[in-house]
Amino acid sequence: MRDLVAEHHLRVDDLIAPLFVREGIAEPQPIDSLPGVVQHTRDSLRAEVVSLAGLGVRGVILFGVPAYKDAIGSGAFDPDGIVQLALGDLRSEVGDDVVLMADLCVDEYTDHGHCGVLDDHGVVDNDATLEIYARAAVAQAAAGAQVVAPSGMMDGQVAAIRTALDAAGFDDTAIMAYAAKYASALYGPFRDAVDVSIVGGGDRKGYQQDWRNAREAQREIDLDVAEGADIVMVKPALAYLDVIAAAADRVDVPVAAYHVSGEYAMIHAAADRGWIDGDAVALEHLTAIKRAGADIVLTYFTRWLAESAASGDIDL
Ligand code: PBG
Repeated sequence: MRDLVAEHHLRVDDLIAPLFVREGIAEPQPIDSLPGVVQHTRDSLRAEVVSLAGLGVRGVILFGVPAYKDAIGSGAFDPDGIVQLALGDLRSEVGDDVVLMADLCVDEYTDHGHCGVLDDHGVVDNDATLEIYARAAVAQAAAGAQVVAPSGMMDGQVAAIRTALDAAGFDDTAIMAYAAKYASALYGPFRDAVDVSIVGGGDRKGYQQDWRNAREAQREIDLDVAEGADIVMVKPALAYLDVIAAAADRVDVPVAAYHVSGEYAMIHAAADRGWIDGDAVALEHLTAIKRAGADIVLTYFTRWLAESAASGDIDL
């Protein structure tokens, strides 16, 4: 009876697996603060995506860890940059079976760790950054990404990317915009995963959102939809269920939510101490994100959930 009348169901089809690929390593590297998640080699990434596809996972989003970083993050748009090479591998390996998404930002590629290029005063230069994002979008689409996902929270990024993609003939490449992305303390383990530290102990409060604000998030979402976003994202997820719910009411494009690294790590840390049942909490949290109104959930639990559903350990 409970199943019959349940209002919301989490499905493997709803999930996107965030995956890391690192240049210049021979073996996958574990990430201490993200148990069960690794920095992949190109080969191990290929195997992982084939395996996820076999489990019914519909989408993956790639993050690159380059061997070298520079002031403008040129690895983000270099055709031989690690994500572009990995996209090429995956496109030939899995064809259209899995939607290949690429996170579009420069923080993994800059030596100062900011999501944009800096001006003479060391402050992120919004409009100069848009030019870099445009180049990265075209490089990612050319390499085989079906979806590019700008995560840097620069003003005008969706419009700049849409214009650049269309001009290069990539009219069909979709944009999943990190639209309401908060300056959260929950990204810590992710920054370990991509070897990013912000110069001078800085932060991203100049471009990411203030978590005291909710109306502002709707304004950011409206702007991204008007600029041509095909999917809008709220990030992180659990502390922002109100923002997800408001977005789902307001827009007519799919809404995604990113259950971020810190949210994942907290469940593992407490479960390891025997303080909570980690599997049960994960299922409850991810389902709550859908209940709030998200159509798509990006989560590091994707493999676990797809495996558990396939083996019958979890009844979704
Ligand atoms: C920026 C980016 C970040 C995350 C995804 N894209 C980090 C940041 O804004 O500092 C965080 C994801 C997570 O914590 O799981 N390229």
